[in-house]
Amino acid sequence: MKTVILFYSRTRKTALVAKTLAQTVGADLVEVTDLTDRMGPLNYFRSALDAVRENKTRIEPEKIDLDDYGLVYIGGPTWASKPAPAIITLIDHCDLQGKDVIPFTTVGRNTGGQDTFTTMGNRSARQVINRMREKIEARGGRMVNSIIIATGGISDLEIEEEVKETVQELDLSIYGI
Ligand SMILES: Cc1cc2nc3c(=O)[nH]c(=O)nc-3n(C[C@H](O)[C@H](O)[C@H](O)COP(=O)(O)O)c2cc1C
Repeated sequence: MKTVILFYSRTRKTALVAKTLAQTVGADLVEVTDLTDRMGPLNYFRSALDAVRENKTRIEPEKIDLDDYGLVYIGGPTWASKPAPAIITLIDHCDLQGKDVIPFTTVGRNTGGQDTFTTMGNRSARQVINRMREKIEARGGRMVNSIIIATGGISDLEIEEEVKETVQELDLSIYGI
């Protein structure tokens, strides 16, 4: 069975992670767009609030046919310790019955050397993965692994390296064969 990577990305960090994952594990790639405007400072706060409240949003494509796929990666950014609304909406639109699923999320990271935010960031990401797991299982999917990538303060090249290392460390190539 084939593998597909579904992702949403506001500022292209998750997009880079998704693209690198697709190249590394050999998967199809499908980007989901949030039709709500998420740019600008006001929309930033609205977006955080939407995430906290788990408000649904309108996404494009609305539905994705997963019949050809045995393994589905689903990923997006962490917003206020929650999955971005496009991801919550996407999972609710997917039939994951009998699918192996690997959720992934990206988080910011402190650039100033204080450990607190890093730990907070990772804790936020773990909360996101836990919530995605609940939503995935409710749609009939089985979470077989998960990935967290911190994107703040590092270059695109470093993000790509981090993804490749994670694929090796977690032996992700063994899934979906
Ligand atoms: C509304 C909003 C809320 C966020 N909340 C968090 C958070 O709780 N913890 C964190 O570490 N990063 C947070 N971030 C940072 C993003 O998770 C991080 O920059 C991510 O890699 C962006 O991914 P993207 O470029 O694919 O949109 C937030 C970003 C936005 C826009």
